[in-house]
Amino acid sequence: NGKPTALIMIFGATGDLANRKLFPSLYKLFEKDKLSEQFAVIGIARRPLTNDEFQNNVRKSIQSASKDDNRVDEFASHFYYHSLDVTDSDSYVSLKKLAGELDEHYQLDGNRIFYLAMAPEFFGTIALHLKEDGLTDVNGFKRLVIEKPFGHDLESAKELNNQIRTAFSEDEIYRIDHYLGKEMVQNIEVIRFANAIFEPLWNNRFISNIQVTSSEILGVEERGRYYEKSGALRDMVQNHMLQMVALLAMEPPIRLNTEEIRSEKVKVLRALRPMEGDEVEQYFVRGQYGSGTVSGEDVPAYRNEVMVSEESNTETYVAGKLMIDNFRWAGVPIYIRTGKRMETKSTKIVIQFKDIPMNLYYRTEQTLNPNLLVIHIQPEEGITLHLNAKKAGQSMEATPVKLNFANKGIDGINTPEAYEKLLFDCMRGDATNFTHWDEVALSWGFVDKISEVWENSKAKNFPNYASGSVGPKEADELLERDGFFWWPVT
Ligand code: BG6
Repeated sequence: NGKPTALIMIFGATGDLANRKLFPSLYKLFEKDKLSEQFAVIGIARRPLTNDEFQNNVRKSIQSASKDDNRVDEFASHFYYHSLDVTDSDSYVSLKKLAGELDEHYQLDGNRIFYLAMAPEFFGTIALHLKEDGLTDVNGFKRLVIEKPFGHDLESAKELNNQIRTAFSEDEIYRIDHYLGKEMVQNIEVIRFANAIFEPLWNNRFISNIQVTSSEILGVEERGRYYEKSGALRDMVQNHMLQMVALLAMEPPIRLNTEEIRSEKVKVLRALRPMEGDEVEQYFVRGQYGSGTVSGEDVPAYRNEVMVSEESNTETYVAGKLMIDNFRWAGVPIYIRTGKRMETKSTKIVIQFKDIPMNLYYRTEQTLNPNLLVIHIQPEEGITLHLNAKKAGQSMEATPVKLNFANKGIDGINTPEAYEKLLFDCMRGDATNFTHWDEVALSWGFVDKISEVWENSKAKNFPNYASGSVGPKEADELLERDGFFWWPVT
C-alpha cells in the first residue's frame, strides 16, 4: 500500500523527548493514515516497566498533546517495552528476540529504525552492541536516528561518528536537527528557488546584510548539567543557526534531491570564514542572563539555576557576524543571534536589501526604509515583504507598507510538528532534512575556534543582560560598527 513499514526502537522511551514529541508525532502519522497497520514500537529504557504500564504512558503522552485521541488504544497496542542495560550483551540478545517476534507478527519486512533519544554518552556503546549482538542483521533496511548533541567538539564528534559507522553506513544515519523539520525552514528553499523575483537579487549586489534571530523566553530549566558544558554556541549555533544560514546562502542545487542539496550546504560551510584568536572578540559577542522579569514573572540569574556554577562562564546568548567568502556573498555580513531568557520567543530571518541608488522622496526629510524580506519561522509562520508606497493624499510622499503571507498550514490550524515530518522522512528513507557528517564536521570546526577563545578567557561582565531583555548591548554595537542595526523581531 506504499505506506512505510518498520519496527521502531526508541532508546530513552521513558524520557522527555519520547513523551513530549515522539509518541505524539507517531500518533499524528497514524491518525492521518500515513502509517500502515504494519508498524510496531519497542520502547527501551533502563527502568523495568510492563507493556501495560508503557502503553499507559504512551496514552498519557498523546492525551496531553492533542484533543483528538479516538484511536489511541488501537495505536498504543502497537507498543512494547524492553528494559535494557546498555552495556550488557544479554540484554540486547533478548531485545533481538522480541524484535524478531514483532517483525513476524506485524510483517515488518525486517525494517528497523533505531532511535537514540537519550544521554549521548551511550550513543557509541549502543551502536556497537546493536551490531555485535546481531540487531542490525536484517533483511530490510536499518536506520539509525540520532539526537543531538552529536559530540561536544570536532574531536568527540569524530570519535562518535567512527563508533556509529562501524554499525551503520553514512546513508543509514539520520542525524536530527529539528529545525530542519520546521515548516518555514523548509520553506526557505521554496521561497528562494520557486520565485523569479528573489533569486536574481539574492547576492552581494543587492543584499546588504542578513539577520537570523532565534530567541527564547525559557531559561536553562533542569538542563544545567548539560548546558554548563554546552552553552548557546554549541547548543544552538553549531547546529540550528548554521543550518539556517546554509539554506539561506547555498547555491541553487541542480536537483532537489538529498545529495545535491546537502552538497550545496556543505559548500557554504566550507566558505564560512574561520574566526580565530582576537578576531573572535571582534566578530562574536557572548552573553549570560542575569535575573529579571519575563512575562510578568521574576526569574533568577543563570548562575543561580539548578546545577549551574555560581561563577559560571557559560554563555546563554551568542551574537555573531559571519562572512561567507565566495562570489555570491563576499562583503555581505550575515548576523546571527540566539539567547535564552529573552523578551520574546521568536525565530526570524530578515534579509535587508541595499538602498536604491537615489532617493527622490527626500524632500520630506524622510529616509526611505530599505526593502526587507522577513521569513517568520516561529511562533507565527509566514513571509513579510517590506516595501515603500505612496502615502494617500495630495503629496508624493512615500510610506512603508507590508505585504504579508501568513502560513496557516495544510490542515488549516497547525503545521505538522517538526518531529512528525522528520520521523516520516526517516521511515520513507529521505535524509534530505537530516545533517550529513560533512556538515557536522565543518560546523564543529568553525565553532571550536570560538569556544577555545571563550573557554580560555573568563567573561568579565557576566551576567551582561537581564532576563526579559533583548540581550547584551555589545550585540547592538556589533551591527552599529557596520552601520546597521537589528530589526526588531516582535
Ligand atoms: C534545542 C536546544 O536544540 O533547541 C534547546 O537544545 C532549545 O536549548 C531548543 O531550547 C529550541 O528549539 P525551538 O524549536 O523551541 O526553537
